[in-house]
Amino acid sequence: MPDPFVKKPLDMIREECDEVGEHTLKRALGATNLIALGIGAIIGTGIFVLTGSVAALNSGPAVVLSFTFAGIACAFAGLCYSEFASLIPIAGSAYTYGYATLGELIAWIIGWDLILEYAFGAATVASGWSANAVQLLARLGVTLPPQWIATPGTHLAYYRQMWQPIASLPMGVNPATLPQATAVFNIVAFLVIAVVTTILVVGIQESATINSVIVFVKVGTVLVFIAIAAAFVFHHFAQAKVNWTPFIPPNTGTRGAFGWSGVLRGAGKIFFAYIGFDAVSCAAQEAKNPQKDMPVGILGSLTLCTVLYIVTAGLLTGVISYTRLNVGAPIALGMAETGVQWGEFLVLVGTILGLSTVMLVMLLGQSRVFFSMSRDGLLPKWAGAVHPRFRTPWISSIVVGVFVAFLPAMLPIDILNEMTSIGTLLAFVIVCAGVWVLRVRRPDLHRPFKTPWVPAVPILGIVSALALMIGLPLTTWIRLIVWLIIGMAIYLSYGRKHSRVQQYIATHDKVAR
Ligand code: ALA
Repeated sequence: MPDPFVKKPLDMIREECDEVGEHTLKRALGATNLIALGIGAIIGTGIFVLTGSVAALNSGPAVVLSFTFAGIACAFAGLCYSEFASLIPIAGSAYTYGYATLGELIAWIIGWDLILEYAFGAATVASGWSANAVQLLARLGVTLPPQWIATPGTHLAYYRQMWQPIASLPMGVNPATLPQATAVFNIVAFLVIAVVTTILVVGIQESATINSVIVFVKVGTVLVFIAIAAAFVFHHFAQAKVNWTPFIPPNTGTRGAFGWSGVLRGAGKIFFAYIGFDAVSCAAQEAKNPQKDMPVGILGSLTLCTVLYIVTAGLLTGVISYTRLNVGAPIALGMAETGVQWGEFLVLVGTILGLSTVMLVMLLGQSRVFFSMSRDGLLPKWAGAVHPRFRTPWISSIVVGVFVAFLPAMLPIDILNEMTSIGTLLAFVIVCAGVWVLRVRRPDLHRPFKTPWVPAVPILGIVSALALMIGLPLTTWIRLIVWLIIGMAIYLSYGRKHSRVQQYIATHDKVAR
């Protein structure tokens, strides 16, 4: 009878780590690649899009506090991820850590849950990417057919030389006076996922190089904004002071709309901006020196992005009043406010390029999680197949790519976004708990990186992730539970019967006897 709580023996994990040959992933990534992968996954929709609505609707200038609180919650989880990633440098990230510490059933749940983080995360960003690409093309005089640029049923109107969702038209504009259309399928989002998937199939080194180049442009865009905004604030300090006052606008009477409750609600929303640092751990089997470089990649990218986020948000609310920031491209609006004509265009290009690496790293993470689950027998063999020439999990990448391409083409961004956050936070809870459990069960293990102040840091990680989860709507919780029930049915009907760990333990027990 299979034991659902069987743990993957660390010896078995080490054997897998040491495997070489054409059926294994290629160890091509150094510390710089890993930091770039982290930044590639982190900087995206959060800073370029969400900062504006959080400042305008929840936190005001105190959006910097929302960024700080969300960053602290991620730091606890980041420290725990780093301990595991250096101790168990296998491709599956939280899934593998769960398998080694909390048992097969929990590992399955977390693996299934990671689909929400990586697949739904990539889909959310593809949705945002398509909106930005359509806007840029419109600026360049190219108008795409409205039926193919949004999810089915979205009502669009032609306003200011481009098709836009009617719901996002500025107040006072009467849609009845404009040409209208209804969307059928978001082919733009579909195609971008197809392109990113192709890059991932071709090779890890190629993917990492493209990622590094784009990260350079993306961070450059943020730094250019910081430089221009800082100069503006310096020369118009009196105006900036007015914009920063009151720092925490008084609560309007509704929970989450300004005041301290607004700052916290803002932290829950802005948390999305940090998602992705943990995706670095999915590439552990492709790192040259995972024990040393994994913590550098995870914590280095997280720290850098936190600093960039806080400075950017602080300057943005100094340049422009938070009350005007509820727009789709707040950073571009801030640029326009400084009077630098080319700035807006630069930010649009930077955003479009920048979002593409978020999709790249998220899809990379998803295919590696499936790869690990398949190698453990919990998913069919095809998911673990490595291309003999490219040395990538190509079938897994293609299947994930096709699935993810349909999500933003069919589902609205809000649902995708909230599912991503709840899935990620659940993974954080399990990873933090896992670090603590393994410290108690196996204090003897050599840990190349040690999370400080255990159990305080894991407990704070669990509490802060749960607090952010509680802030999410009830419907998101219900969707999570339905998703987990579907996963459980698959585990019971397939994974439990094919588990390699169960077979490994049975064989070793027999030998021992
Ligand atoms: N952190 C990523 C973003 O903001 C998911 O787009």
